[in-house]
Amino acid sequence: MAEPGRCRDPAWLRMPRPYQPSLLRLLHGATALLVLAAWLSGLAVYSLHDGRWGRLPITPTGDWVDLHGTAGVLLLPVAVLFAAYALTLGRRRLQRPSNALALGAVTLAIGSGKLMNEDWLRRGELHHWVYGLHLLAWLLVAGAVIVHLLGGLQLGGVAMLRSILSVHVRAGDQPRHWPGQVRAFISRP
Ligand code: HEM
Ligand code: HEM
Repeated sequence: MAEPGRCRDPAWLRMPRPYQPSLLRLLHGATALLVLAAWLSGLAVYSLHDGRWGRLPITPTGDWVDLHGTAGVLLLPVAVLFAAYALTLGRRRLQRPSNALALGAVTLAIGSGKLMNEDWLRRGELHHWVYGLHLLAWLLVAGAVIVHLLGGLQLGGVAMLRSILSVHVRAGDQPRHWPGQVRAFISRP
């Protein structure tokens, strides 16, 4: 029979809740939202101008190439800052393959997007290898984010995923502490 004390105090209740630094949460959240915008607007572009492997049941109207380009232009500087964080202050987290894969797939999507010509799809030119690479990166981003979510779940369950979405900020981790956190990283031996 289980001890009554143990039943009321299961081990998971005593486990510390995971906490993510606020600077990471800001850069990670902005990147993830803009990647979602680029992914969905890319789906609309694909459905309108390509559609070789199927189209959306309702084809949205509007200049989706332009909207997608805008999402891509906004994503680039945010992703550069996030990557800079991940490679420095967050480098221990980046050693987890599921984190590195997500960043790698997004880097490929942005890099190939920068090589795209905005008129190719409007002119029906689907044969450019850069476009093929950009399409592949789009699929890789979807797969990598699924693996990333599974990796997070495996690491710390739903509490881990919630920790990156949480808006709670601990004392000592407010925006005014960010320059100090960067300085502490730089001056580390
Ligand atoms: C395009 C979307 C995303 C990309 C590119 C991405 C990328 C990354 C990267 C590179 C890291 C490591 C950061 C570091 O080294 O400091 C990370 C951490 C993390 N991400 Fe994401 N992420 C995305 C979406 C999401 C979503 C939707 C969730 C779930 C709500 C999530 C949950 C997490 C968690 C929990 C961590 C911390 C994991 C750890 O400590 O190893 N991510 N993400
Ligand atoms: C995660 C998915 C995607 C990301 C992160 C992404 C990112 C980007 C970026 C950063 C640019 C360059 C924007 C610029 O500087 O002007 C771009 C351009 C472009 N992408 Fe994507 N893309 C994605 C998916 C797609 C998909 C699925 C399609 C269509 C099949 C697509 C079609 C295009 C086109 C036509 C351009 C040229 C638009 C322009 O330069 O204004 N993208 N993309």
